[in-house]
Amino acid sequence: MKGHEVDALLDEYGVDAVLEAATPFLEDTRIARLEEGLDAKLQSLTIVLENLYDPHNGAAAVRSAEAFGLCDLHTVDGTTGVFHAAPDVCLGTQKWMDLHSHHSAAECASSLREQGFVMCATVPGSELELEDIPVDKPLAIWFGNERDGLSSKAQALCDHRVSIEMHGFCQSFNLSVSVAMFVHRLAAKRRAYLGAVGDLSPGRRELLRARWRGTSVRGLDKVLRRARQEKVASGQSVSS
Ligand SMILES: C[S@@+](CC[C@H](N)C(=O)[O-])C[C@H]1O[C@@H](n2cnc3c(N)ncnc32)[C@H](O)[C@@H]1O
Repeated sequence: MKGHEVDALLDEYGVDAVLEAATPFLEDTRIARLEEGLDAKLQSLTIVLENLYDPHNGAAAVRSAEAFGLCDLHTVDGTTGVFHAAPDVCLGTQKWMDLHSHHSAAECASSLREQGFVMCATVPGSELELEDIPVDKPLAIWFGNERDGLSSKAQALCDHRVSIEMHGFCQSFNLSVSVAMFVHRLAAKRRAYLGAVGDLSPGRRELLRARWRGTSVRGLDKVLRRARQEKVASGQSVSS
């Protein structure tokens, strides 16, 4: 089933019921692979893409972020319309991540700040370099678009401006290349700081476990409906 279909079932039946219904359909090797994925998810590092033009660039960023084990990717879609990652570049990786769309940089920043993220604006030529970014707190790394870079509004909302040093004649890296370089280094540093590969909270882990197992089962909606009918028929209470 598709992620959004399973999310609707999670809303209707709850995490426990989805897990109970989906798990018997999965082979042990599949369950073990999904658990490995959960162990490696890093929720304390995230990226923000502001007003992207090119869906292929965005998709390449999603793919890199997923490959490094990130959970969330934020887009600020104020001037460009809602972000759609190109499927031929994403190759399905978006189903292992949560994509959050925001109307404005301010709204995105306030939501990230509430969750305890320190925010870094990536701006070519900034004094603070990638290697100097402190990794002792959750980090949100903001990227600008291909033509204009990160807006001054977004930069002002961030705690640091950071760059990757360049030595050629080129003035900036391609956006998705920058994302890959930042996430590669910061994910490794954050994992070393945490002393762990992943850092999912127990609640998020349980939710993702249910969603991932649910997406592996065709006809999960029917299985859940039947299980509920059987419970009602036998006089057991059902959770909604
Ligand atoms: C093609 S660049 C944008 C160039 C734009 N003309 C500018 O001056 O920012 C797209 C994005 O990649 C990131 N980026 C590219 N090169 C970078 C570098 N050397 N250091 C930090 N970020 C970089 C930034 O997020 C930038 O907004």
